[in-house]
Amino acid sequence: MLTFIWAQDEQGNIGKDNTMPWHLPADLAYFKKQTTGHTIVIGRKTYESFGRALPNRRNIVLSRDQNLSLPDAEVIHDKKEVLKLAETEEVFICGGAEIYRLFRDQASRLLVTKIGASFEADTAFPELDWSKFQEVSRIEGQEDEKNRYPFTFYTYERVEN
Ligand SMILES: NC(=O)c1ccc[n+]([C@@H]2O[C@H](COP(=O)([O-])OP(=O)(O)OC[C@H]3O[C@@H](n4cnc5c(N)ncnc54)[C@H](OP(=O)(O)O)[C@@H]3O)[C@@H](O)[C@H]2O)c1
Repeated sequence: MLTFIWAQDEQGNIGKDNTMPWHLPADLAYFKKQTTGHTIVIGRKTYESFGRALPNRRNIVLSRDQNLSLPDAEVIHDKKEVLKLAETEEVFICGGAEIYRLFRDQASRLLVTKIGASFEADTAFPELDWSKFQEVSRIEGQEDEKNRYPFTFYTYERVEN
C-alpha cells in the first residue's frame, strides 16, 4: 500500500527554497510517529533538504542520476521498484512535489496536515483527483507558543469508483 504524507498551507503550498515554509514541530512529531519503523520514499531534492537519511526508517531516494550513491540511503531510479515494495508493505511517499506527482494515481491513503495560514512558497502539492478519496478522520492540532498556526491532521482513503 502507498500512503502519502505531507503538510500544506491554505494555498496548497509545501515548500520554499528546498525547505519547509513554516516551523511546526507538532507536525514533525506527527510525521515521525507515522513513519518510524516503515519505508519512506523521497525525491533527491527532499533528501538534500533533510541533509541526511531519517533515523529508524528505511530511506529510499528516487533519482535519475545513475551515478548517485548516498552513505545512508538506498538510491533507486525506477518507480516500479517502489510499487513492487508496496505490494507487501505500507510505503510512505514523503515528497516532494515531483514525487507526489509521480505516484498520485497509485496512492491508497493520504495523511495531510492542513495549516490554516499562507506562506511564501515556490512548490505546491500537485493536482490530484480528490473525487477518488474520502475523508476518514480529522484531528485538530493544538496551537501553542511553539506551534503558532492552526493545523489539522486529515486522513483520506481511496474509494473504488
Ligand atoms: N510540506 C511537505 O510536507 C513537504 C514534504 C516533502 C518535501 N517538501 C518540499 O518540497 C520541495 C522539494 O520538492 P521538489 O518537487 O522540488 O523535489 P523532490 O520531489 O524532492 O525531488 C525531485 C527529484 O526527484 C528525482 N525524480 C523525480 N522524478 C523521478 C523519476 N520519475 N524517476 C527517478 N527520479 C525522479 C529527480 O532527482 P535527480 O535530479 O537527482 O535526477 C528530481 O530532481 C522542498 O521545498 C521540500 O522542502 C515539502
